[in-house]
Amino acid sequence: MKSSAIANSNIALVKYWGKQDKELILPYNNSISLTISDLHTHTTVEFNEELKEDQITLNDSQIDETSRKQIIKFLDIIRKDSDLKAKIVSKNNFPTASGLASSASGYAALTLAATKALNLNLTKEELSKLARRGSGSACRSIYGGLSEWQKGTNNDDSFAKQIEKKDYWPDLRMLICTTTTEEKKTKSRAGMAQTVATSPMYKSWLDTIENDLTNVRTAIKNKDFTLLGKTAESNCLKMHATMITTEPPIIYWNPTTIKIMKQVELLREQGIECYYTMDAGPQVKILCLKNNQETILEKIKQIDGVINTITTKPGEPAKTTEQHLF
Ligand code: DP6
Repeated sequence: MKSSAIANSNIALVKYWGKQDKELILPYNNSISLTISDLHTHTTVEFNEELKEDQITLNDSQIDETSRKQIIKFLDIIRKDSDLKAKIVSKNNFPTASGLASSASGYAALTLAATKALNLNLTKEELSKLARRGSGSACRSIYGGLSEWQKGTNNDDSFAKQIEKKDYWPDLRMLICTTTTEEKKTKSRAGMAQTVATSPMYKSWLDTIENDLTNVRTAIKNKDFTLLGKTAESNCLKMHATMITTEPPIIYWNPTTIKIMKQVELLREQGIECYYTMDAGPQVKILCLKNNQETILEKIKQIDGVINTITTKPGEPAKTTEQHLF
């Protein structure tokens, strides 16, 4: 009853920020994301009758109590009526909880490994629905390439669907620029609840989503990089406007975040097409095409405060592996 899986992170081009149903994790809007290569979580799960309690290790350490409770609650959904306990060992190959979508790759890998360990052979849609119960954005990491999370109205119709697989747009790049390795103060879950409850901008954000979704779908269909990048950047700024206007304010950026944003604008003025997007953290992800990646990286690396950069491409879907972590 042991199984392992690897899942990649995903970065949203049209973001998810707010739940209609917190228990079921049903979002207010559809979101579209790119699953990226190179940033992944590797997880091994074993259900064992001899275990007295669940044992969970992330990056060789015990996890905090909130995360532990969240994972056990999620395991209870998967193991249903059985009282089998699990040993879980998980590793991220990138900083955890600093806005690099570790919960997305983490819960996608856990969903796949745990269901395989229990011999449940689920379809991608079923895996996506289940992963959503762990962390909303995880439902999109079940797929490679580009996918859309259909918000749905209930537990059974809220899941992601593939838009295009990994090889559809091979020149697409997402440059991950790390500006800190510290864990963020406000986790997405608490932050988005606070935004929905208090930001006067939240309704206007929702009013613009349909248009952004249409633009991103069209951009993908026509491989229109300009439309894709412009829409993703403006969608990100609108989401951050709702965060900043939350009571108390949630400002995820640091000075380096802003320096990178300015550099991206400058590069664009010079004819090097690229766009930025940020999530619930200060890291900047730059969307560009392969032919410009080196020029952009050269400029970004010169910025004081940039800790490192990782070049990613459209990534693989979540998959099982025979490499067990214990
Ligand atoms: C800003 O999926 O981490 O990255 O469902 O509460 O676990 P929970 O939240 P989470 O939120 C991700 C928010 C985001 C945007 C996105 O990925 O769409």
